[in-house]
Amino acid sequence: MLNRNILSIFFYTFAVHIDNLNTMAQKILVTGGTGYIGSHTVVELINAGYKTVIIDDLSNSSADVIDNIEKITGVRPAFEKFDLTDFERVEKFFADNSDIAATIHFAASKAVGESVEKPLLYYRNNLVSLMNLLDCHLKYDVNNIVFSSSCTVYGQPDKLPVTETTPRKDAESPYANTKRVNEDILRDSTVANPRLKGIALRYFNPIGAHPTALIGELPLGVPQNLVPFITQTAAGLRDELKVFGDDYDTPDGSAIRDYINVVDLAKAHVVSIERLLKQKNKENFEVFNLGTGNGYSVLEIIKGFEKVTGVKLNYKIVERRAGDIVKIWADTTYANEELGWKAEKGLEETLLSAWNWEKNVRGMK
Ligand code: WQD
Repeated sequence: MLNRNILSIFFYTFAVHIDNLNTMAQKILVTGGTGYIGSHTVVELINAGYKTVIIDDLSNSSADVIDNIEKITGVRPAFEKFDLTDFERVEKFFADNSDIAATIHFAASKAVGESVEKPLLYYRNNLVSLMNLLDCHLKYDVNNIVFSSSCTVYGQPDKLPVTETTPRKDAESPYANTKRVNEDILRDSTVANPRLKGIALRYFNPIGAHPTALIGELPLGVPQNLVPFITQTAAGLRDELKVFGDDYDTPDGSAIRDYINVVDLAKAHVVSIERLLKQKNKENFEVFNLGTGNGYSVLEIIKGFEKVTGVKLNYKIVERRAGDIVKIWADTTYANEELGWKAEKGLEETLLSAWNWEKNVRGMK
């Protein structure tokens, strides 16, 4: 009996080792990999035993992120700096990297307000980048791609929580429309080319930072998103936080979102890549909502931040921000059951990680 147990442990360990060796051999391309979500995903891919290569044009991030990914994981990802709208450059990359097993495509312009002012920049950058990538995936037989999409494709849902079958609505901004159109481009490409498999991950509101505080969200200029504005206000970089409206149809009048920890979000990308590489996908194009299933209001986020950090925030209620929806949060059942992934980190831990990151960036104790 004892021998049989020892043998089964040996074979299990051997199988896990082979599985790791297998992932070790597999190289994943991460476009936008020096960005906020991209960098956290590269860390989790390395932790899962994958080789990684980053393409980023550094238009909204810094190459220092690569040093910090290496500090966190002990492994330095390969890195190439170029613009994905340059087809010749993209093709040269794929010709030189014939061992790419899959791609996670984060690289995109993502400021909602800027997209309203500069729609052509957003359509050109976000759509041409994906089309260049897909052309090269087809030409070089790279058959797996995970696409960074967004819950903004739902607009203001008529019914909450939001499932993956909730109808998409007309986009509220050119940025949101590029996400919607790119989902269609990917879907139609998988229909026309059955070897190609794609997963679109619809993020709700990513927040927080890596527990080491070595990587996190580093908006250039004035932060558009709530949590980085909160941490910069707490750090004294901003005089006060403006709360965009407290007259919404919500319990405390401020808008509600589903805030998801960026490390939890990153892990969902690893699970999605594995789903494609191990051919567990049920359709050649799949969509998953990545949220926590919990909605928090702006004022609840502020109170949660003050509670967990002990820092009193200076904020003022002002008029609503154009284009904002009132409330949205995810039904996570499908992602939990089908992907086998669930957000684990709570709001307070996540807000504290954002604050620790901000203090680290500012050299604060
Ligand atoms: C959250 C709430 C604001 C700033 C955006 C993108 C979406 C996704 C996540 C990429 C809203 C309020 C904000 C401030 C505030 N990004 N707020 N004062 O707008 O839900 O979604 O980021 O995938 O695509 O659209 O996030 O953080 O900007 O706002 O009161 O200074 O905080 O009104 O209610 P949003 P956000």
